[in-house]
Amino acid sequence: MSLLLQWEGEVNPHHRQIIQMANDAEFLSQALCRVYPACQTIPQSATATVSPLATGGAMVVYKITVAFPHQPSHHLVGKIPRQRRIVYAAGTEHQTDHDTTHALLQRLLSLADHLGQHAPGLFPRCGGVWHRQRPDGNRQHVLIEEFIAGVSVERLKHRYEDQLLAGQLSETQYQQQLTTVERLAIAAYIHLWGALQRQTFTSDPSPWNVLIRHADGATPQATIIDLHSLEENTDLTYVIQRMAAVYGNRQEIVEGVIIAGIFDAVGAEEGCMMLREALPRLEAHAEQTRRNLGVNLQRPLLQAIRKLC
Ligand SMILES: Nc1ncnc2c1ncn2[C@@H]1O[C@H](COP(=O)(O)OP(=O)(O)O)[C@@H](O)[C@H]1O
Ligand SMILES: [Mg+2]
Repeated sequence: MSLLLQWEGEVNPHHRQIIQMANDAEFLSQALCRVYPACQTIPQSATATVSPLATGGAMVVYKITVAFPHQPSHHLVGKIPRQRRIVYAAGTEHQTDHDTTHALLQRLLSLADHLGQHAPGLFPRCGGVWHRQRPDGNRQHVLIEEFIAGVSVERLKHRYEDQLLAGQLSETQYQQQLTTVERLAIAAYIHLWGALQRQTFTSDPSPWNVLIRHADGATPQATIIDLHSLEENTDLTYVIQRMAAVYGNRQEIVEGVIIAGIFDAVGAEEGCMMLREALPRLEAHAEQTRRNLGVNLQRPLLQAIRKLC
């Protein structure tokens, strides 16, 4: 069945048309049942309210709130990819010539299913992907996934900074909060890499792409929401350098956030073993960079590994 659509805020007319068509094809109700398996019978009076959530990146993101009478609402996210913004950095083997967006979205769907089985909670449950070829040959796509009611690591960092400036946190408390939340992000990315056979990694492990649920509770949970650009054949050398580039290649970050986050994810013993194994390649990369740029950017990373492992 199709749902009764309602629109809130400024939904781009072009996107409105795409979502409407996907809904007419019963995609929204099917996606809802896929994300929330408990809700198999959808009442005729169910409404789906679509409102803008985020724009500016590779995907335009809408929140879809499905309301049933006398029941709590179900929340979904609908993502409409922008043409030519979505890429496989090195994953050419998965790319097809005619439509890379189609291929990437299908890959995201299978990744989400794989992660749902091997690391539940780490990535949103996927409701599916809808594709359509328009008469003029252009393609349209919608990806639906579970809405994660969390706050991004980046936003939490800003929140702690505001609290520091307002005198609600001491400098020490602020540093602790910052480290804790960044460590959660690193641990989540290491879990991701592990759940993807230590082969595939995101090229954008940014603090914007990790949402934290129960940030103020005893057991905050990190969910990665954006795997829109992937790197294949990634070893720890790549993963750790990528994260050092994003979170900072300074001693206190490398030790207190990156290596600590790796230990949180796999344990200190396994973590040290992995890092020692990665060290020769990291040293070779560092030497190459030093020759090319005249500076040793990797020194804090190498020193921390030698010190801690
Ligand atoms: N499943 C989700 N649940 C809740 N919010 C989401 C979800 N997916 C995306 N968002 C929100 O939309 C923003 C952009 O989505 P993202 O998937 O990161 O796309 P982009 O490739 O454009 O960065 C995120 O930073 C987050 O605020
Ligand atoms: Mg993103």
